[in-house]
Amino acid sequence: MTQTPDLSHRPSESTTAIEWVKLQLDVDAFDLARFQPYVDTCRTSGIRLTTLSELGDTPEHRRALYELNKECSADIPQRGEFFPYDEYHRRRFDAPGFDPRGVVLALDGGAWIGMAATSDQRASGFVFNEMTGVRAPYRGRGISVAMKTYGIGFPGLCGVSTVRTLHHPLNLSAIAMNRTMGYVDASW
Ligand SMILES: CC(C)(COP(=O)(O)OP(=O)(O)OC[C@H]1O[C@@H](n2cnc3c(N)ncnc32)[C@H](O)[C@@H]1OP(=O)(O)O)[C@@H](O)C(=O)NCCC(=O)NCCS
Repeated sequence: MTQTPDLSHRPSESTTAIEWVKLQLDVDAFDLARFQPYVDTCRTSGIRLTTLSELGDTPEHRRALYELNKECSADIPQRGEFFPYDEYHRRRFDAPGFDPRGVVLALDGGAWIGMAATSDQRASGFVFNEMTGVRAPYRGRGISVAMKTYGIGFPGLCGVSTVRTLHHPLNLSAIAMNRTMGYVDASW
């Protein structure tokens, strides 16, 4: 598998026009003891963490993921209009790096309130955080950190120990969230 990460959810400008913030995490150095409490707090507050694989990679669930992604992406700086479902399906679910085990979900009862989707780019030596999003009323409670901690085993399933991600420089909350978890600047 040699494809580059799917940047389809990124802002609509040319990727060469902005100074993307490139971040990378070495999973072997991830401080699980520090971040496991975020997972535990979710559970005790009634937020269920799961994956698309565990829940069922069904057409209905793919549509729910799309709706969640679309709502959260509206808050990505300069993101622009979101894709219609057909195009999202082609770019995400039909992509070679798609793996439902890499799609972590946060549920409040029947409501999908958070997602952390990571694709399998093992041929390039890493997995890639495609999209992390939490519905606005649920932000600031550590749910994004909890989801990414819950999914920290996915790189190992892919046989790699590196996670990469890319952010618009104005997306300060997402950059801060990743730095909190140990992501550092990278220059691939
Ligand atoms: C980025 C986003 C996913 C964060 O979700 P969240 O659940 O509110 O984040 P958390 O509560 O887990 O915050 C985790 C850490 O991130 C940092 N952080 C989160 N929001 C922040 C903000 N607005 N300002 C500064 N730091 C912030 C903090 O360091 C925080 O750690 P702490 O709680 O120990 O202080 C959420 O704001 C969102 O959905 N944004 C829109 C979509 C988006 O931009 N996604 C990223 C592009 S893929």
